[in-house]
Amino acid sequence: MNGNIIIKNASQLVTCSGSAAKKGGEMAELHLISDGALVITEGKIDAVGTTREIEARLEASAADLKDFDIIDARNKAVLPGFVDSHTHFVFGGYRAEEFSWRLRGDSYMEIMNRGGGIVNTVKATRDASADQLFQCGIQRLDAMLAFGVTTVEGKSGYGLDHDTEIKQLEVMAHLDQVHYADVVPTFLGAHAIPPEYLNRQDDFIDFMIDEVLPEVSERKLAQFCDVFCEKNVFSVPQSRRLLTRAAGLGLKLKLHADEIVQTGGAELAAELGAVSADHLLQASDEGLQRMAAAGVVATLLPATAFSLKEPYARGRHIIDAGGAVALATDFNPGSCFTESIPLIFSLATLYMGITTEEAISAMTINAAAALDRADTIGSLDVGKQGDVVILEYPSYHFIPYHLAVNTVEKVVKKGTLVFDKQKRGMTYC
Ligand code: NIG
Ligand code: FE
Repeated sequence: MNGNIIIKNASQLVTCSGSAAKKGGEMAELHLISDGALVITEGKIDAVGTTREIEARLEASAADLKDFDIIDARNKAVLPGFVDSHTHFVFGGYRAEEFSWRLRGDSYMEIMNRGGGIVNTVKATRDASADQLFQCGIQRLDAMLAFGVTTVEGKSGYGLDHDTEIKQLEVMAHLDQVHYADVVPTFLGAHAIPPEYLNRQDDFIDFMIDEVLPEVSERKLAQFCDVFCEKNVFSVPQSRRLLTRAAGLGLKLKLHADEIVQTGGAELAAELGAVSADHLLQASDEGLQRMAAAGVVATLLPATAFSLKEPYARGRHIIDAGGAVALATDFNPGSCFTESIPLIFSLATLYMGITTEEAISAMTINAAAALDRADTIGSLDVGKQGDVVILEYPSYHFIPYHLAVNTVEKVVKKGTLVFDKQKRGMTYC
């Protein structure tokens, strides 16, 4: 448990090497090493190469192998830890009945417009204690870690008032401290209009700008500010006003953009230099092009489209046009109640025209870039954090091939083995 580990004899080391988002054709390059090995020292990757090279290096440096855990990854593929760069995993209550209503024909927006949807979860999250949210958060992070997710973005947005928004962000800070997964907090105060501000969107944006955002920034409770930019939720001018203020206070930007109706969210993301714009099911060609030119990562959420029976975002088109795509779960209690990474791989490859190699880049280095962390995570490169996934199969092709089933056998976080399927689960907590 000292953050020192040697992984050797891997049939395939999928390094995903790089320190920035991969765009267009670059997404297909995984930088493989056959019979690969890597050394992690004090949580950081120290050496990457073939097993023969790494063994020679260890011998030459007279390293004391007693200081290292050693994993024999014979017949196994080894990849960077997955990064889930878009989730809403801290919430109270559930909305299981809404899933059945949607099967009956009600749309997500119809349910939302009659007071269900996000606002339902808002009531339950306001009522939940910080400790209840924390306990649920631990369970959800455990589930994600077992899918190979070593870094998780999480959004507020189920409070829509000062105290509950702050409570959600404080819970995420606590989870980041105690759980092996890294938690990246995003302030999504403008996620929906609460009943007290019905038909007063502009006043609600003023409230967030004046009463909540300054404290979020001062106490460094969030690294990103996000907004649900959507017809009947927040308009492009309202979103621009909030995000511009957030950027002025030092937060980086994300948007829920062009999910249900095309409103120009992709164009706004490019204009503001957002780190990512997410969903994009209805984004215009022009908006996607401007995003690619401005270096905004297109974060696609196929399980949400699947769950809502909406058409998928145009992954193939975005990559062919030179854009950078990340994939994420969008885990939340309404539109997409799943933390399943295998499902994301299945949907992206089978229904979005994304190749297996591109999907792996999208869940690793590009997802890291969607969190502005491509310099520290998302690939197996020397100097990066030692976050590693070991599959129970010899090649990365098994990930989408084993349809919607978890192929992860072991997970290493900062050089410590934190999940081992062979030991029936978690090795911690
Ligand atoms: O990304 N689109 C808006 N927000 C979430 C859904 C949240 C919910 O339904 O609770 C999303 O899909
Ligand atoms: Fe979302």
